[in-house]
Amino acid sequence: MWDSDPRRRALAEAVAAALIARCTPGKAMQALEAGCGTGLVTMEIAPLVKELTAIDTSPEMLNVLQEKIRSLGVSNIEPALLDLSSPSVTFEREKSFDLIYSSMTLHHIGDTAGFLKRIVTLLAPGGSVAIADLESEDGHFHDNPDEEVHHGFDRTDLTSLMNAAGLQGVSFDTIYTVNKKNSEGKTTQYPVFLCTAIKE
Ligand SMILES: C[S@@+](CC[C@H](N)C(=O)[O-])C[C@H]1O[C@@H](n2cnc3c(N)ncnc32)[C@H](O)[C@@H]1O
Repeated sequence: MWDSDPRRRALAEAVAAALIARCTPGKAMQALEAGCGTGLVTMEIAPLVKELTAIDTSPEMLNVLQEKIRSLGVSNIEPALLDLSSPSVTFEREKSFDLIYSSMTLHHIGDTAGFLKRIVTLLAPGGSVAIADLESEDGHFHDNPDEEVHHGFDRTDLTSLMNAAGLQGVSFDTIYTVNKKNSEGKTTQYPVFLCTAIKE
């Protein structure tokens, strides 16, 4: 199960801590996690905001999150099975968000530019985007080398895409380093950044 890997939990904790420090989630905020998985980050952020919409394309991941919500009696997380890489994605009710974030999801989305433009349309003026993902990597981070993913992101390239999507004040921090045996069996360090920006 996803949550039983201590490496994933440690990374999610680091993402949540950096997100809280950089974006100061507040009790009046509507937040959205794109690619929430089992909610490792979402469960840390939800107590700090008004409502959190947690979307993912995996029913299995969302089922785990649903069970956490049920067993802990959480009332402000709304999970949704949605694909944000789809241009026709719509929400059940009209919403704009003060904070949209993702953790280790952007590299799974083929059209980075299209995804960024889409989330900007969902963001309220003055709202923040925070993206945690891998720095450009050697192509061996994922266990299945044939998986179609971006091999991390170059900071300059991602800044250009964020600006082109209408985001300003793009800033990066290195927030964590994953130390893992890669698909070649070589123990390698993979730094993770948190990239933040604002819709002016
Ligand atoms: C590496 S997992 C990260 C999960 C979680 N954010 C965490 O930090 O533990 C990436 C997640 O993104 C989801 N995902 C991939 N493509 C997506 C898309 N187009 N829209 C929404 N979620 C997506 C996957 O199903 C998966 O749950």
